[in-house]
Amino acid sequence: MTVHFIGAGPGAADLITVRGRDLMAACPVCLYAGSLIPRDLLAHCPPGARIVNTAAMSLDDIVAEIETAHAQGHDVARLHSGDLSVWSAMGEQLRRLRALGIPYTVTPGVPSFAAAAATLGAELTLPGLCQSVVLTRTSGRATSMPEGENLAAFAATGAVLAIHLSIHVAEKVQAELLPHYGADCPAAIVWRASWPDETVVRTTVGALAQAVAASMERTALILVGRSLQAEDFAESRLYAADYDRRYRPLGTEPRFPATDVQNNPALDTARDEPLNDGAPRA
Ligand SMILES: C[S@@+](CC[C@H](N)C(=O)[O-])C[C@H]1O[C@@H](n2cnc3c(N)ncnc32)[C@H](O)[C@@H]1O
Repeated sequence: MTVHFIGAGPGAADLITVRGRDLMAACPVCLYAGSLIPRDLLAHCPPGARIVNTAAMSLDDIVAEIETAHAQGHDVARLHSGDLSVWSAMGEQLRRLRALGIPYTVTPGVPSFAAAAATLGAELTLPGLCQSVVLTRTSGRATSMPEGENLAAFAATGAVLAIHLSIHVAEKVQAELLPHYGADCPAAIVWRASWPDETVVRTTVGALAQAVAASMERTALILVGRSLQAEDFAESRLYAADYDRRYRPLGTEPRFPATDVQNNPALDTARDEPLNDGAPRA
């Protein structure tokens, strides 16, 4: 018996991974975080599966469900929204399972910040403009921020910020960002990215708070950064015609002669990643 933690994606039922879908189909028990998981996704559960919405349950109740399935030898699909590596409450469940000796696996999902960027049609990291993305949030009723992890500190870096769980404090967010990004810095609010009622507002840091519609409760992301609206940025070196690279050796003494790649399978694993700063790779 195994508990399979599965990132269910941002909302659209077809944005779960193939592995996640197949695991769901193989598990006679499914526990899902009902506040953010679309019901359509539950169609992947096998007929007769025990399907439990954990939205109103305590951690003890959830673990009790898992222990019951464990005693019966039933695999469990445990669904959380987006990806499991951020704000999923998976960590505390895994700790309990380790203590109980119950095996588990973890299958990643499409995080909401990636779905929001896709909706905006935006590459968040653009050459010369921005090379870092900070996934963060503000303090909530249930969770305070560790000292040092505050918006002003992240904003001081100029990175793109993907601010979760904070739409209800947009005024505060705006006030903290304004001194660092300036009023004209592009911002966007993406509410329910990938859901049928997805709503997008493109705005600026200076107009952020007034851009939040009353209907945009809870499931919204605030994205801030110069790359959100930019047209004036450098092209990456990867595809530059004069860039001597592993898969496109140039000149009479290329850094990676074609035969190196052909003869050495290890080199062949190199990914097609943009090297925006043009730095050679080892
Ligand atoms: C508890 S966190 C879950 C994050 C999730 N694990 C992920 O990978 O994105 C919930 C917050 O994520 C953001 N979020 C989740 N799904 C979203 C979506 N479809 N559109 C916009 N924001 C979303 C919102 O900021 C929401 O308040």
